Amino acid sequence: MKFGATFALLASFISTALAVSFIIPGAVWIDTSGAKILAHGGHIMQVGSTFYWASSPYYQGNEYDPNIYSSTDLMNWSHVGIASTAVAGMYRPKFVSSGGKWYIWGQVNREIVTLVAPGTTPASTAYTLTGSPQLLPPDARSFSDMGVFVDDTGSNYFLSSADSNNFQLNNINAGTPITIGTRVADIGAAMEGPGMFKASGVYYLIMSEKTGYRADPDKSYWATALAGPWSAGTDIAPEAVNTYNSQNSAELVITGTSTTSYIFLGDAWDADGTDASNYEWLPISVSTSTHILTLQNLAMWTINPGTGKIRSYCRLEIILKTRLPGVVSSSGFANTTFNAADAIIGGSAGGINSSSNVTFTNIPGRGDKHWVSFQYTVNNVTAGDAHVSVNGGPTINLSELNSRAGHYSTVPVALSLKEGANTLTFGATATDDGDFEAHLEGIQIFDNY
Ligand SMILES: *[C@@H]1O[C@H](CO)[C@@H](O)[C@H](O)[C@H]1NC(C)=O
Ligand SMILES: *[C@@H]1O[C@H](CO)[C@@H](O)[C@H](O)[C@H]1NC(C)=O
Ligand SMILES: *[C@@H]1O[C@H](CO)[C@@H](O)[C@H](O)[C@H]1NC(C)=O
Ligand SMILES: *[C@@H]1O[C@H](CO)[C@@H](O)[C@H](O)[C@H]1NC(C)=O
Ligand SMILES: *[C@@H]1O[C@H](CO)[C@@H](O)[C@H](O)[C@H]1NC(C)=O
Ligand SMILES: *[C@@H]1O[C@H](CO)[C@@H](O)[C@H](O)[C@H]1NC(C)=O
Repeated sequence: MKFGATFALLASFISTALAVSFIIPGAVWIDTSGAKILAHGGHIMQVGSTFYWASSPYYQGNEYDPNIYSSTDLMNWSHVGIASTAVAGMYRPKFVSSGGKWYIWGQVNREIVTLVAPGTTPASTAYTLTGSPQLLPPDARSFSDMGVFVDDTGSNYFLSSADSNNFQLNNINAGTPITIGTRVADIGAAMEGPGMFKASGVYYLIMSEKTGYRADPDKSYWATALAGPWSAGTDIAPEAVNTYNSQNSAELVITGTSTTSYIFLGDAWDADGTDASNYEWLPISVSTSTHILTLQNLAMWTINPGTGKIRSYCRLEIILKTRLPGVVSSSGFANTTFNAADAIIGGSAGGINSSSNVTFTNIPGRGDKHWVSFQYTVNNVTAGDAHVSVNGGPTINLSELNSRAGHYSTVPVALSLKEGANTLTFGATATDDGDFEAHLEGIQIFDNY
């Protein structure tokens, strides 16, 4: 039966597509096919109701081919594919839309290389090389990390860290292909990874420090005209948290029907910038009076791209959609029994080290991925790692599942739970016989991944 077969095929596609319901900064993100999202140094453009994410995957040694994902909700991302294999080693790819064509610009050997899509959509795996590699007008500076900005006039601008020590802003010429135009501004800031947006008539620029793949305190700058004068830099998060373990990649503005939201798109790099790196996306609050930008440190959040509204899931709220049935046992130290509410806000199962574990039993699962948030602190973040094991399976360090592990007291990770009752074992291991302890306050289990 032809119809029957078609429906069965559709049903199997629907059941295997992974739907994601939260943005979880620092966690390993999975695309709709179940593969890890590899989209470092990227940039997002909205076309109608679809978002396109241009980026670099860092697999295949040093051959960083530009990569594209698409989404309608900023949470479920489908892999469109590698935009082109015509260039290798393209860093920080960015989309530019001009004259009805879609381009990807990225840096190859510190020059700009241009790829053009064959049709009128950015979602293509058949981009081809066009034009010649470019240096920065007017004085042919080379540059490192780049960004693009589209003003509300529709004009495109090129953002770069020129000769390593100056932020430089250039026009983008709207020819075929596009080229880098005249210089608009030159700030002597030795910063990189620029991203820009405009809010209430003021331009805001966010840049990271020049620390390689190590997180640093990113700064914001503002001006009422692109040519400047530009303000001095101010921190967008407390200095000590190093932009919540990340570096700026780009900014995204969602102009919704009820509000406009500003989003910091950061990379939570691993030490070598490999595909073990994750993403730190956080809402930005904009002070229209002081022009100070502040990242909202949310562990789990959602955005409605239609209304622009952001919902946060705050760390001390009891947000179990499925409550624990009051079963928490422990081993290796005095047993503690919690009910579900206590497990979240109550006493700490303190002092967990390699001699002890905490086991949560009867955790209800749906035979699928679930976000499980571990709420814990550690005595020394560089001295060890907390780990989890599901149903006696392999022990996985939490830092492999979320780059925020140890640094923040709420660490959501995606775990596959079987249908029915599951057992989660939480423990802690010192790196080398050191004095490492985790203090677990509780866990939160979400119905949805
Ligand atoms: C994305 O995930 C949400 C929440 O699970 C789901 O309702 C929605 O249908 C998904 N969207 C897509 C395009 O898969
Ligand atoms: C600790 O809890 C486990 C599991 O419920 C139980 O078997 C054990 O007897 C308890 N230990 C103590 C010292 O109460
Ligand atoms: C774990 O903590 C207990 C209680 O403080 C301590 O007796 C034990 O030596 C610690 N184990 C390790 C491996 O450090
Ligand atoms: C803690 O749990 C892990 C993973 O299940 C296990 O490998 C380890 O032996 C346990 N440690 C203790 C002290 O029970
Ligand atoms: C934290 O752990 C690291 C690595 O084991 C160690 O070098 C450092 O001294 C520790 N810091 C404190 C304050 O104990
Ligand atoms: C997990 O973390 C511990 C403590 O830092 C470390 O010794 C161990 O090598 C890590 N395991 C893996 C698989 O990375």
